[in-house]
Amino acid sequence: MDKRVVSPRQQETDDVSLDRTLRPRRLRDLIGQERVRENLSILIEAARKRGEALDHVLLYGPPGLGKTTLAHIIANEMEVPIRVTSGPAIERAGDLAAILSNMRAGEVLFIDEVHRLGRAVEEILYPAMEDFALDFVIGKGPSARSIRLQLPHFTVVGATTRLALLTAPLRARFGAVFRVDFYDRRALAAIVERAARVLQVEVEPDGAEEIARRGRGTPRVALRLLRRVRDFAQVRADGRITADVARRALELLDVDERGLDDLDRRVLRTIIEKFGGGPVGLETIAAAISEEPDTIMDVVEPYLLQLGFLDRTPRGRVATAGAYEHLGIPYQPTAEQPALL
Ligand SMILES: Nc1ncnc2c1ncn2[C@@H]1O[C@H](COP(=O)(O)OP(=O)(O)OP(=O)(O)O)[C@@H](O)[C@H]1O
Ligand SMILES: [Mg+2]
Repeated sequence: MDKRVVSPRQQETDDVSLDRTLRPRRLRDLIGQERVRENLSILIEAARKRGEALDHVLLYGPPGLGKTTLAHIIANEMEVPIRVTSGPAIERAGDLAAILSNMRAGEVLFIDEVHRLGRAVEEILYPAMEDFALDFVIGKGPSARSIRLQLPHFTVVGATTRLALLTAPLRARFGAVFRVDFYDRRALAAIVERAARVLQVEVEPDGAEEIARRGRGTPRVALRLLRRVRDFAQVRADGRITADVARRALELLDVDERGLDDLDRRVLRTIIEKFGGGPVGLETIAAAISEEPDTIMDVVEPYLLQLGFLDRTPRGRVATAGAYEHLGIPYQPTAEQPALL
């Protein structure tokens, strides 16, 4: 299990009820993600004006950026109940058929990790999404016949961190597809300040800024850092989060000024020191530092790419000049990567 304080994944030690209190409930409370917010608000308003169910919506992007939050916001804005499930939770086609036959008009079915639906399950979902129909086969052998059950119009909201793993037919059935992206520092600082108000902890703007800078563009990370800095402020200072308090707390947690921790730095160092800066395959990097390739792909690489410390080329990963500089290693590009400055 990924226990890093900067992990964008949900962790066991994360306070789930607190998480729920901090979650924005309406589009207007959502900080950042302007594009998604704007597009969603048009989609929602149009559906409401027509009195129809919302089109199926697919949300994709790295963990911890607000996909689940957005799914709940969609249901709140449509003023309909939301049913929550996930790809791995639906084991058999019958499980999904049971869920679908209970959906009411307009309701939202949120399927998290939608890329992990089994094949037989997906096949039930296709006609359900497209024609609002559920196909059953009754009987066996020559007397078997299929009947079709009509379903009310409902909305599937799917979420995935791995758009590439979604099958083409499933993807095609989502009328609206949104990429949820990393937050800029200003939005993240605003999220930290808003959360601090809810938590009733005093944070100075510079303190929020320090936390935001190391929050990896990810609300889940920034909020976790805020909680840890709050602890530090209460134990080692007077409870107020100033820039200095934030900096000291985050140093103690081994999170550097750009939000990198030991694992991120190990990945970069390995590429630079063992593989001459790359290109090197992800599997090879993973093996060299004894980590799961999935962990590197999901929780290390996206942020390093975003920072511009890493480049993805057809032949593998390459550390950029920025990575060398961040680690304080003189930049000596190999013959293979002269253009990656
Ligand atoms: N725009 C936002 N403003 C304030 N808080 C946010 C925002 N987006 C996300 N959060 C907070 O960040 C945390 C993670 O959000 P959420 O669970 O929605 O992410 P996710 O994309 O579904 O992650 P995963 O891929 O792991 O399922 C939650 O605590 C949520 O309250
Ligand atoms: Mg989620």
